[in-house]
Amino acid sequence: MKAPDAKNVKGFDHITYEPLRYDENEMLERSRDYFDWLNKRRSVREFSNKPVPKEIIENIILSASTAPSGAHKQPWTFCAISNASLKSSLRKAAEIEEKLGYEVRMSDRWKEDLAHLGTDMYKPFIENAPWIIVAFKRVYEIDEDGSRHNNYYVNESVGIACGMMISAIHNAGLVTLTHTPSPMNFLAKLLDRPANERAFILFPVGYAEDNAYVPKLDRKSIDQVCHFYE
Ligand SMILES: Cc1cc2nc3c(=O)[nH]c(=O)nc-3n(C[C@H](O)[C@H](O)[C@H](O)COP(=O)(O)O)c2cc1C
Repeated sequence: MKAPDAKNVKGFDHITYEPLRYDENEMLERSRDYFDWLNKRRSVREFSNKPVPKEIIENIILSASTAPSGAHKQPWTFCAISNASLKSSLRKAAEIEEKLGYEVRMSDRWKEDLAHLGTDMYKPFIENAPWIIVAFKRVYEIDEDGSRHNNYYVNESVGIACGMMISAIHNAGLVTLTHTPSPMNFLAKLLDRPANERAFILFPVGYAEDNAYVPKLDRKSIDQVCHFYE
C-alpha cells in the first residue's frame, strides 16, 4: 500500500520525500561528470562589463538560498548591485581597506602566500563586473514584539549557501571571485543594511574578460584530502 503523501509529526506537517534515483552505473558517471565540470571552475579577477540579465542573478540567488541552514533559519541576505555609481563607491571603499591591508595589516608570510595569485590593492572588477553580489550573514532576527533571538550556526550556514551560489554561477556559464576585503564594515554602511546583518563575502559576477588569465594551480589529490575508514 502506498504511504500517505503527508503525516503529522509532533504537531507539524511532514511530506513524502521524493528521491531522485539512478542506477549505480549512472551514479558513477554522474559523479565523475560533476567533478569534471566543477573542476573547471576558477576564481576570475578580470571581468568583462557585458551585461547579465537580472533574472539569471535571481535564479543564482534562489539556488544559494536552497542551502541547508541551522534550524532552517536561512540566516542570509544577498544584495545584488548593478548600479554603476554604487559599484564605484564600493570599489573606492574596498581599495582603501585593501591599501591598508597590503601596506600595514598583512604579515609578510600572508603576502608571500598570496604572491602566486598576482593580486594587489586595486580592484577594478568591482566596477567592471555587471553585478556585485554581497552575501550578508544575519546574526540575529528581531521578532514582531521587538525582541531579538540569535540564529544558529550562522557562519556554517552562510558559508554553505555561498558555496552553492558559486556552483550556480558556474552552472549559468558565468564567473565569480570570492572577495573578502577586510574589514568589511563599509559594505553594510554603503548598502544601508540593518544592524543584524554583517557582510560575509563580496562576489563580482559576470563574464570573464576576453583573454583573462588565472593562476596556474594544482588541486590536492583524493589521498591528500580524504581518509577512508572502511
Ligand atoms: C574565504 C575566501 C576568501 C577569499 N578572498 C579573496 C580575496 O579577497 N581576493 C582574491 O583575489 N581572492 C580571494 N579568494 C580566492 C582564492 O584566492 C581562490 O579561491 C584560490 O586561490 C583558489 O583558486 P580557484 O578559486 O581558482 O580554485 C578567497 C577565497 C576564499 C574561499
